[in-house]
Amino acid sequence: MAEYRVLLTGNPGTEDVMAEEAVEELRASRVVEVRSGKGRVVVEAPGPLDLLGDRLLSMRSIHSGILLLVEERVGPTLGDLERAAEAVARSELASYLPAGAAFAVRAERAGEGHEYTSMDIARLVGDAVIRACRERRGFRPEVRLNSPSVVVHASVVEDRFYAGILLTGERSRHRRRYRVYDHPAALKPTLAYVMLRLAGARDGDRIVDPMCGGGTVALEAAYLFEDSEITCMDKDPRHIHGARMNAVAARVEGRIRFLVGDARRMHEILGEASADVVVSNPPYGIRLGDPEAVRRLYRAFIPSLRLALAPGGRAALITTESDYMIELARRAGLRLAHVRRVRHGDLWASILVLERPT
Ligand SMILES: C[S@@+](CC[C@H](N)C(=O)[O-])C[C@H]1O[C@@H](n2cnc3c(N)ncnc32)[C@H](O)[C@@H]1O
Repeated sequence: MAEYRVLLTGNPGTEDVMAEEAVEELRASRVVEVRSGKGRVVVEAPGPLDLLGDRLLSMRSIHSGILLLVEERVGPTLGDLERAAEAVARSELASYLPAGAAFAVRAERAGEGHEYTSMDIARLVGDAVIRACRERRGFRPEVRLNSPSVVVHASVVEDRFYAGILLTGERSRHRRRYRVYDHPAALKPTLAYVMLRLAGARDGDRIVDPMCGGGTVALEAAYLFEDSEITCMDKDPRHIHGARMNAVAARVEGRIRFLVGDARRMHEILGEASADVVVSNPPYGIRLGDPEAVRRLYRAFIPSLRLALAPGGRAALITTESDYMIELARRAGLRLAHVRRVRHGDLWASILVLERPT
């Protein structure tokens, strides 16, 4: 069976999880490249192509999947970019455009020192596609920026040039359709999924998000696990109402328990040793604008978390105040099992995995 190269994009800092999920969901036979901190992974996965597209849509850690047809080294000058774009004209990329197709190029650039912009990338790659179609396929494809039938994805990441066909649609896969209520500080669902994995959550676990906002963690958990008891708690009734609306849109409302309650007393509200897994995105200092208020919240929350976790239970928390939280966890008797930096919107934050010893 034909193997295809696929470029996956996702949250910077989560590349290893994206690669693991690709092995499971795409049945990827080889992880070719992991660009740590850049949110990019290249894998080889079996076809046929329509099945590969369907499998990509079932992945929960990625933002997009691209059938990768051109990979080149590229230097910093416009001439270097022109040479890389020439490789697009020589490649089989044009054979993926049906006769009469309208296409658009979406381009990205990451890294320092490039003397060209993403618009230069889009222009040169667009020209190369048109030339290849005219010379080798005998038609001139129409360029249509709104609702194109084929999207060519081209990017430069530091010294690498990639081009291919976008297989997952223009809407980033982190924009889940269930989000009818948009919490002002919502977590990306792709990060919620990664946090559930890092916490080692399994079907049947009692899973709690005690500061759940619009319910992103609970909804991702409900998609993954059929037999888990999932609790979504927030001190603000408006967010609990919004989380419930999201769960209705996702058709999982019957599988989640919604509670208005204070995370600083979660062990009293939910019971001691009542959670196997806690995954949460507490307020961050930088976003709230008052670091001391956040630290006060963390000081009361972490001891309550320790009591609410069952022995051997794990919590994955995302915060920009990681040193402070690690110290509080140590004092409360929680072991730091894992820590990593991830990009969340315009901030770098840390995911901590804390474990209650058995
Ligand atoms: C960053 S938001 C969570 C966003 C959520 N992950 C989502 O995707 O929508 C933090 C949430 O913590 C809640 N919160 C703050 N202090 C709390 C407390 N003491 N107890 C429970 N919830 C609290 C806020 O109301 C807010 O909804």
